[in-house]
Amino acid sequence: MDVHDPQDIARAQNELLREALGRRPPPPADENDAGENHSLAPYARTEPRRRAIALEAARVTSSDVVYDLGSGDGAVLIDAAERYGCACVGLELDASLVKTSEEEAKRRGVDDLVAVRQCDLTRVRAETLARGIEDLPPPTVAYAWLTGGGLSRFSSKLREAWEVGDFRIVTCVDSLDACVDFERDGAFAEHIDRGWEVHRGKEAAFGVFVVPPKSVSLEKWAREERAC
Ligand SMILES: C[S@@+](CC[C@H](N)C(=O)[O-])C[C@H]1O[C@@H](n2cnc3c(N)ncnc32)[C@H](O)[C@@H]1O
Repeated sequence: MDVHDPQDIARAQNELLREALGRRPPPPADENDAGENHSLAPYARTEPRRRAIALEAARVTSSDVVYDLGSGDGAVLIDAAERYGCACVGLELDASLVKTSEEEAKRRGVDDLVAVRQCDLTRVRAETLARGIEDLPPPTVAYAWLTGGGLSRFSSKLREAWEVGDFRIVTCVDSLDACVDFERDGAFAEHIDRGWEVHRGKEAAFGVFVVPPKSVSLEKWAREERAC
């Protein structure tokens, strides 16, 4: 073993852990294979102040199409539609939350801007996500507040979609370059490099992380922030 290879050390560490825990089976190799567990996160709203910071950090404008990946009760979508007048699309596993979102969007008078689809993100194809779900326009902003484990499991599909499409990503609490699935990667999982380059601006202090669109470098994104 090369003692200087951090991935080797991480793997060996997890091997020791598995031994200590009674040799649990190694995680499935295919990150897109959701197995029996299709839930990437339980339902909870993003705290409203963090939500506002996240939408601002993503530099949302009226011409954007904001996708909320796991949209819960639609609070992010409704907030974005009210504040910025942009089109919003929610993708949500739980049909009752889809219904709640639609009713609330209607009650708040933004149902012309907000569309929500019942959908399992672990099943949707990356290309479909990038090009737009069904008849809906493609995302220019993808918002994701999932657990670290959920984000980690969804990371490779999101990456594929990000490479095909043209959108920036804003995540809350966990960042794409450091999220870890402790179930899959081991309880002392160390950093797993999936190639994401994440902007850590002033919003990072509030647990908000942005990945610029693939056509914009981190440096350019940061320069634009300073200019604002
Ligand atoms: C932490 S909540 C975030 C809700 C909302 N985005 C917000 O920030 O207020 C995560 C949401 O993802 C949904 N979710 C979990 N797994 C999913 C999947 N495989 N496909 C679609 N939605 C999923 C959950 O039902 C839940 O509503």
